[in-house]
Amino acid sequence: GALMKGVRHLSDSGITRLPDRYVLPASDRPGVLAVSSSVAGSGRVKLPVVNLAGLRDPCQRAAVLATLDAACREYGFFQVVNHGFGSDVSGGMLDVAQRFFELPLAERARHMSADVRAPVRYGTSFNQAKDDVLCWRDFLKLVCQPLQAVLPYWPQQPADLRDVATRYATASHRLFMEVMEAALEALGIPTAGGVLGELAASSSHMMTVNCYPACPQPELTLGMPSHSDYGLFTFVLQDHVEGLQVMHDGRWLTIDPIPGSFVVNVGDHLEIYSNGRYKSALHRVHVNSTRPRISVASFHSLPAERVIGPAPELVDDEAGNPRRYMDTDFATFLAYLASADGKNKTFLQSRKLP
Ligand code: SIN
Ligand code: FE2
Repeated sequence: GALMKGVRHLSDSGITRLPDRYVLPASDRPGVLAVSSSVAGSGRVKLPVVNLAGLRDPCQRAAVLATLDAACREYGFFQVVNHGFGSDVSGGMLDVAQRFFELPLAERARHMSADVRAPVRYGTSFNQAKDDVLCWRDFLKLVCQPLQAVLPYWPQQPADLRDVATRYATASHRLFMEVMEAALEALGIPTAGGVLGELAASSSHMMTVNCYPACPQPELTLGMPSHSDYGLFTFVLQDHVEGLQVMHDGRWLTIDPIPGSFVVNVGDHLEIYSNGRYKSALHRVHVNSTRPRISVASFHSLPAERVIGPAPELVDDEAGNPRRYMDTDFATFLAYLASADGKNKTFLQSRKLP
């Protein structure tokens, strides 16, 4: 079908009623947030905080690994602070992201593509080709690996986008490698060579820059529907506006943004690789009527052609740890997206062994 103009355009046009094609069925609406006993206020959560500076300190490393391990088991989510990412790099990324979505629609639309594998793709909603109801989100997706090959496709407007996003992507990959090494150590998987060596040699890395404009009827729609992420880890940088929610114990909890931190979540690949010890949690994005929100999500994993299954170190039938997932790869994921299963199951569920 024809590519649509997106929600930034709708919001800028000053609509006061949500168009029908954004209205979710009652059962899927954001609704009233549940209260959890472990959180302050109603339905809010302060995620476990992983202090990267502590991870780099031999005296504190074990304690930080324990925090990370508990967070990945319990929530599949944590926040990273003291990551050493210059605030110029992350602040610069949010700033250029904002300016990208302020460009005239015609300039943004140059990057529209229906090809999910395109190195750069501007679009709207979640999975535009399949969504029955559209989401209140516009996005710019940038493939970041191999950087030299994809860079010529990245937008040339705003004029500093390539430069700022390159610095951001490079720092994000470095941070991912550090967190991945910590996760492997916490799981008791040797970090010399192995998967970490593979990732150092080649990995998949893409970034989506999300724009959620103020929405006239936020209670009827979502910025992103409930989903889990495909890769190993996702790093989300957000501005000061809340919106990201995580499913925990059957309830939606809104994550309190900590300025300057990253929200990190376990993806399907890490749940599979950890044989289920770490959780790839469902999450979604709600929007609001007054404050536009910008976020940048960086998706890190093994190369697309790599087949992924549980780490042999974590499978032991005698010890009551049978293999819990089938092997999988990117082609299987694309086939799942195109299949009818994509509507009522998550990809991860489709890879679980009975
Ligand atoms: C996501 O990528 O799933 C959500 C990112 C956001 O917080 O906007
Ligand atoms: Fe996500």
